[in-house]
Amino acid sequence: MKKVTMMDIAMEANVSKTTVSMVINNRDGNISEETRQKILKIAEKLNYIPNSVARSLSTKKSGTIGIILPDITNPFFSEMARAIEDGANNLGYNVIFCNTDNEESKEEKYTTLLVSKLVDGVIFISGGESSRSIDILKNNNVPFVVVDRPIKNNNDYYGIYCENKDGVKEGIKYLISKNKRKIAFVKGPKELENARERFCGYKEVMEEYKIYDKSLVFNSDFTIEGGITVTEEIIERTPDIEAIFYSNDMMAYGGIKFLIRNGYKIPEDVGVIGFDNIGISKFVEPELTTISQPIYDMGKEACKLLISIINGDNIPENRIYFSTELIIRDTV
Ligand code: RIB
Repeated sequence: MKKVTMMDIAMEANVSKTTVSMVINNRDGNISEETRQKILKIAEKLNYIPNSVARSLSTKKSGTIGIILPDITNPFFSEMARAIEDGANNLGYNVIFCNTDNEESKEEKYTTLLVSKLVDGVIFISGGESSRSIDILKNNNVPFVVVDRPIKNNNDYYGIYCENKDGVKEGIKYLISKNKRKIAFVKGPKELENARERFCGYKEVMEEYKIYDKSLVFNSDFTIEGGITVTEEIIERTPDIEAIFYSNDMMAYGGIKFLIRNGYKIPEDVGVIGFDNIGISKFVEPELTTISQPIYDMGKEACKLLISIINGDNIPENRIYFSTELIIRDTV
């Protein structure tokens, strides 16, 4: 069964293929309304679908933007993807989602694929260093916006981020206001700049209050399983810990599970704070106190910024930082 073509429509409408092309691509030309309607009716009857690849080649525009996401299983990124898709659709663009599982090789493969598909631009959320992927975009003059995770030479790129350091500082000061002093900090992946910024916020406040103790700093990986494992390590090393600040909500869920399973009361025995405020955090039991990132607003702004770049608009500043917000629930 071959694909319906413009020639099929031309044959049935008894007009030239050029006439069909003018009508399908909405180009002006002295074509009567009667002929236009006849061609459109036949195209609908035959279920004709224009060849978008052919159109991209001729117009050098695909009306599509690509999104590189590091971990679609983490609701932070699916919520971000939702916002980007809404923003793109509102501005007349389609989206292609690429999930890289934080793997550099997959990230480069997908970046290359998006370039080959002639996307008009890319929203890029890094899984690590990403320098090769960024070079692929730059060398092919594909407009892109970095979101959420700053990458090396960050000053050269358009970017949308949250105030990671200030967000953690507010959370730690809140714990201190609740008379928590032995506060452990669980870092995200060391290769991520935003994870490092969050740790800096913790260290600065703990030093300000003269209670910084590097033995209370732990490494993990932004996953629930990582949160469970690291909380076991924290409790083994410091059974009298008073609070734990997790660098994202998913690790905090793991921590809550381990603490409750081992007889700890939250918040009476151990206070818990997360970072992100993804949708589930108000439904877990106890409901998670966390530092909220404006995920939806960041996604929509990233989309708006990218399409402005594609359109050649004047961009006043190339990095936009969104404030975070302390969301007080039941775990502190
Ligand atoms: O939960 C995933 C984390 O990775 C979030 O904190 C977000 O900032 C992303 O970088």
